[in-house]
Amino acid sequence: MQKLKEEIGRLLAPLVQLEPEEVISLLEVPPETAYGDIAFPCYVLARQRKQPPPLIAGELSKELSGIGGHLWKEASPRGPYLNFHIDPSAYGSDIIQRIRDEGLTYGNTDLGGGANVTIDYSSPNIAKPFGVGHIRSTVIGHSLYLIYKALGYNSIGINHLGDWGTQFGKLIVAFEHWGEEDELLDDPVDYLYKLYVRFHKEAEVDPALEDQARAWFKRLEEGEAEAVDYWNRFRSLSLDNYALIYDLLGIEFQHFHGESHYNDMLEEVIQLAREKGIAVESEGALIVDLEPHGLPPVMLQKKDGATLYITRDLAAAIYRKETFNFARSLYVVGAEQALHFQQLFKVLELLGFSWASQCIHVPFGLIRFKEGRMSTRAGNIVLLDEVLRRSIEMARTIIEEKNPDLNNKEEAARAVGLGAVRFGDLSNDRIKNIEFDWDKVLDFSGETAAYIQYSHARICSILRKVEDTDRKFDPQAVSLLIMDEEAALVKTLALLPDKIIDAAEAYRPSILARYLIDVARDFNRFYHNCPVLASEGLLREGRLLLIDATRQVIYNGLALLGIEAPEEM
Ligand code: ARG
Repeated sequence: MQKLKEEIGRLLAPLVQLEPEEVISLLEVPPETAYGDIAFPCYVLARQRKQPPPLIAGELSKELSGIGGHLWKEASPRGPYLNFHIDPSAYGSDIIQRIRDEGLTYGNTDLGGGANVTIDYSSPNIAKPFGVGHIRSTVIGHSLYLIYKALGYNSIGINHLGDWGTQFGKLIVAFEHWGEEDELLDDPVDYLYKLYVRFHKEAEVDPALEDQARAWFKRLEEGEAEAVDYWNRFRSLSLDNYALIYDLLGIEFQHFHGESHYNDMLEEVIQLAREKGIAVESEGALIVDLEPHGLPPVMLQKKDGATLYITRDLAAAIYRKETFNFARSLYVVGAEQALHFQQLFKVLELLGFSWASQCIHVPFGLIRFKEGRMSTRAGNIVLLDEVLRRSIEMARTIIEEKNPDLNNKEEAARAVGLGAVRFGDLSNDRIKNIEFDWDKVLDFSGETAAYIQYSHARICSILRKVEDTDRKFDPQAVSLLIMDEEAALVKTLALLPDKIIDAAEAYRPSILARYLIDVARDFNRFYHNCPVLASEGLLREGRLLLIDATRQVIYNGLALLGIEAPEEM
C-alpha cells in the first residue's frame, strides 16, 4: 500500500495545497473494499475552502480523471471521501515483482534505524517447573523480538529470571529438612518443586518454618557461602531444564540476567531514592509514597533490610538504560502485574529519569487448559514441556493419517505441533484470557497455524510439479491476473509490510497472525476458483508467479511468529 499512498500523495498534493506527506498521513482504508481501496477525507479541506466536503470530493475526482494514475484506475467521490480504486493488473505486477525481488526480506522496513529495543520476556522463576503460565510471555515476547528486528531495530531479548527472593529461603529449609540428594539429581526441577509444595503444606502446621526460611534468605542476601552454594545449585539445575524448552522453541536470549544480577546495584537505587527525597521510613521499612499519583505505596526495603521484586526491577531498568540506551524497553508480563509496572514506571519518573516514558508494559491475559488455572502452590501444574511434546505427538498422528507416505514426518510434526501451541496463543488478542482446546488448535481447516502451513505446503507441492523451476518475473503474465480472487489475493499480499508495523506499534503479534489467516483464506478461495497447473500459457505463468509470492508471504509472516513453514506435510 505504501507505494500507492505515495503515488496518491504526489498527485493530490498540488491540487489540495498540502505537502505529499500530509496527504499520505490523511489517507484511510475504507470500511468496505467496494467503496475503494484508499480514501482521502475531504472535510479537512472544507474549512479552508468553505465548501461542503462532498462537493470537494466531486471536484477532485474530475480533476484527477484528467491526470490518471499508474497503480489506480479510478478516483470516485462518495460522501465526504474521495475513493481510489486500485488497477489490479498494474498493482499486482508491482507487488508480485517486489515480493520476488525482496524474497525473505519482503515485509521488512528500516523504521528502527538500528535503535535498541530491550524485550524482557519469558522470565520464569527458578526452582519451579516451567509451567504454561510462562508460555504466553515466552511466545508473545519472542514474536515481538522478531517483529522489531524485521523493522530495523536491534532487538535485545532479556530473560529476567526469578532467581532471587524469599522462596530460596524456603527451598533451603525444605531441602535441609527433607531433601534427598539422589532424588534431586534424578529430576531436579520436579523435585525442587515438590519440596516447595511440601514446605507450604508443612508451614501451615508449623509456622516456625517461615521464620527459618526468612533467616536463610537473609544469609543468602549477605552472601554467606553455604546459602550461596545451595542457591547456585538450585539455579543451575533449573537452567539446564529451561534450556531444553528454549532449544525446542528455537529461542535464544541475548541476556540471561536474572533478578540476582542486580543485587549489588540495589544500595545505589535506595541511595538515589533518599537523595531525591521520595523515599521515607515507615515502621522501619523504606517506602515511596505514590498516593499523590493515585497509586499504592511502593516498598523498597523491608525492616529487616531485605529488598523486593520492585527494587530489583528499578535497578534492572536503570542498568538497561545505561547499558543499551534503549529507544523502547518492553516488559512482556501478565496483566496481573499491571500495578507493579505502573508503580515501577512512576518511581523511575520520580527519580528523574525522563526515559521512564519509553518503558512499556505489554500485558496479556491468562491461558487456561481444560485442567483449570495452574498454581505452583496448590501443586497441580501443567508443564510447558509436556504441552509442547503432546502437541507434537498429536500433530504426528494427524500427519500420519493424512499423508502416510511423507518423507520428513518428524520435521513436519514438530513444525505443526509447535506451531499449534504458538499460534493458539498468538492469534488471540493478547489481553483476552484464552481457553486452550486441542481439537481447535490442531484443526487443519480452522483458524490455525496448521491451516496456514498447509496452504504453504500445498503451494510448494504445486510448484514442485512444474518443469521449469527457474521462473523469471514476467510483467505481461502478471497483468493477466484480473479475476476478483486474484485481485483480492494480490491486495492482501501487499499488506504484509503494513501489518508488521501495526503489530509492532500495538505490541500485538495477533495482528500479524490474523492477517496470515486472511492470506491463507484468500489463497484457498483463489485456488478453488482459478486453476493453476491446468491453465495455459502466460496465464498459467502469471498464476504460478502469484502463488509463489503467496508462499513467500506466508513463510515470512509465520517466521515472525516463530513458526516454521514446512514444504511438505
Ligand atoms: N519472574 C516473574 C514472574 O514469573 C516475571 C518477571 C517479569 N519481568 C520483570 N522485569 N519484572 O512473575
